[in-house]
Amino acid sequence: MLDIPLRKLEELAPRPVDLDPFEISSVDRLRAHQLERLLWTLRHAYDNVPHYRAAFDAAGVHPDDLRSLDDLKRFPFTSKADLRDNYPFGMFAVPRSQVLRIHASSGTTGKPTVVGYTRADIDAWSDVVARSIRAAGGRPGMIVHVAYGYGLFTGGLGAHYGAERLGCTVVPVSGGMTERQVQLINDFKPDIIMVTPSYMLAILDEFRRQGLDPRRSSLRVGIFGAEPWTNAMREEIEEAFDLHAVDIYGLSEVMGPGVASECVETKDGLHVWEDHFYPEVIDPISGDVLPDGELGELVFTSLAKEAMPVVRYRTRDLTRLLPGTARRLRRLEKVTGRSDDMIIVRGVNVFPTQIEEKLLGIPELSMHYQIVLTRTGRLDEMEVHVEARPEAIELAAREAAARRLERMVKDTIGVSASVRVLDPESIERSLGKAKRIVDRRPKE
Ligand code: DLL
Repeated sequence: MLDIPLRKLEELAPRPVDLDPFEISSVDRLRAHQLERLLWTLRHAYDNVPHYRAAFDAAGVHPDDLRSLDDLKRFPFTSKADLRDNYPFGMFAVPRSQVLRIHASSGTTGKPTVVGYTRADIDAWSDVVARSIRAAGGRPGMIVHVAYGYGLFTGGLGAHYGAERLGCTVVPVSGGMTERQVQLINDFKPDIIMVTPSYMLAILDEFRRQGLDPRRSSLRVGIFGAEPWTNAMREEIEEAFDLHAVDIYGLSEVMGPGVASECVETKDGLHVWEDHFYPEVIDPISGDVLPDGELGELVFTSLAKEAMPVVRYRTRDLTRLLPGTARRLRRLEKVTGRSDDMIIVRGVNVFPTQIEEKLLGIPELSMHYQIVLTRTGRLDEMEVHVEARPEAIELAAREAAARRLERMVKDTIGVSASVRVLDPESIERSLGKAKRIVDRRPKE
C-alpha cells in the first residue's frame, strides 16, 4: 500500500459480516461449486449454441467428460473471432425474447462483438459489481458518481446497476462534458467516482483549471478500470485527490466490469469473483494451462451466465493468478498489458504501461502520454509524446526531462525511444479508454 496520507481505511474496509458467502467460504466449497457450475455451463452451451456443439465435437469432447476442474483444459478455446463469426446473436443460448439487454464492444476493426443478458444475468452482474464497489470501500447510502460511458459499452450501466444493488445513490453522468463533471462533484458531493483512470486525469486538470483544490473534494474512493493503468498512475491520482484508487477489471464478453476487483485494504491485485467466473492462465503460443503464479494470457469460463455462456474465452490480457489475501478468492496481478497493445521495437517487446511507470519519477512530466510508431526505411521507430506539467515552462528543463526519460527507457526496458515533451493539453483527451498507441507506420 502507498505511504501517503489518505482518508481513513478502517471506515472503508468492509466487515466480514457484510461479505458474500463465497468471499469467505473454504477453498473446497468454492471448488465444488465451480465444478457443479462448470458442468452446467458446458451442457448449456453444448445444447443451445451451435458454435459450441460444433467446436466440442471437433475437439472430440462432450460436457460429460468433465469430471474435475482439471478436465476443462480438454475443451476448446473461444476467441473474439468466434463471436464475430456468429454476429449478431449466434452465440446466444436462450431465445432472443428472453434477452433483456444487449451490449457491444466497438472494436477497432470490423463488426462489433455483441453480448446479451437475461434477467438473471443482469441480476448476477449487479451482484458482482455491488461486491466490487463494497470491496473498494463503498457502503449503502453513499453517493456514486458514474462517469463511465453509458450505452453499448458495459462500463456505465454495469457500474450503475451495481451501485444501485449495493444501495447507493447513483449519479449517472456518463463520460464527457468535463466542466460539468467537476460542477456535479462539487455540488452533489459524491463519496465515490467510477471512471477510467485516464479520464480521471482530465477531471483533475479541470479542477485545477477552475482553481479548485481537488484534495478538498468529497471523493473518498475512485474505482478505476476499463484500461491498463499502473501503480504510478494510482499514486498520482491518490495524491492529487486524497482518495483511495482501486482497480476494477472486466470485459464485455465475460460480463462487463466486476469480473475481478481490488480490495481497498490491500490494493494488491484484483480478486476474481471466482464463484461466477473460472479463470485460467495459458501460454499464449502453446495454449497450455500454466500453474498459478506464471505470467500468461488470461482465459475465462462463465459459471452462471444464461444468455451468453462463454467457455475458455481468450481475453488477450496478460497477467498471472496469485493466491488470495483480503479474500480467499484468487487474485489477478494488475493487468498491465494486452497482447494487442504489445509493441515490438527492434525485437524488444514494450507495453505502454512500462513507459507510464517511468513518468511519475520525472517532476516536469505529466501522465498524459502517447506512443507514436513510425518507420524510417526498414526500421521501426518509437516516439514517446508526453505533456509537460503546466508549471514546467522552461524549455531547458523540458529538454532535460526528455533526455532523462529516454535514458530510463533505454536502461530499464532496453529500447531506444525519442521523447518529445509537448505543451499541456496538446494530446487528445479521451472520454473513456485512452488511446496510447498511434501507429503511423505505412501499411504493409
Ligand atoms: O472495459 C469493462 C469495464 C468497464 C471494466 C469499466 C472495468 C470498468 P471492454 O470494453 O469489453 O469491457 O474491454 C475489456 O479492457 O480485456 C482489458 O484489456 C481492458 N481492461 C478492462 N479493465 C481493465 C483493468 C470493459 N482494470 C478490456 N486493467 C479487457 C487493465 C483492463 N485492463
